Amino acid sequence: MYSEKVMDHFTNPRNMGEIENPSGVGTVGNAKCGDIMRIYLDVDEAGVIRECKFKTFGCGAAVATSSMATELVKGKTIEEALKVTNQAVMEALDGLPPVKVHCSLLAEEAIHAALWDYAEKKGITIEGLKKPKNDIHEEEAEEEY
Ligand code: FES
Repeated sequence: MYSEKVMDHFTNPRNMGEIENPSGVGTVGNAKCGDIMRIYLDVDEAGVIRECKFKTFGCGAAVATSSMATELVKGKTIEEALKVTNQAVMEALDGLPPVKVHCSLLAEEAIHAALWDYAEKKGITIEGLKKPKNDIHEEEAEEEY
């Protein structure tokens, strides 16, 4: 069912909490399951993500994917963080059951939303970053729960 890594990140989540005065913060939800994920970024002058924290109100897989996503983007540049897809998060967790794939999408979208907020605050454009959606469930409408 769940890999050891998923269980580890669920029972012992990394980087849980919030950052005061973050460089960027992004919140996304899935109206279908009701889960919500928020990611905070602290980006330095060189564009490197120094700190990344999360708050997730959701299922165990959502907690595990947020935890892994924050680990993956920490220390990365903006461009590198943009490449942290839900696939990358799932691979790092040794996979997720098919009905839980949408939880990892929440993590990808929350990172993008936080980067979008950072870009807006700085008045810059991040190449390749599209305006994030607040609700991701329309993308996986055919998925069964
Ligand atoms: Fe919806 Fe996990 S069940 S995020």
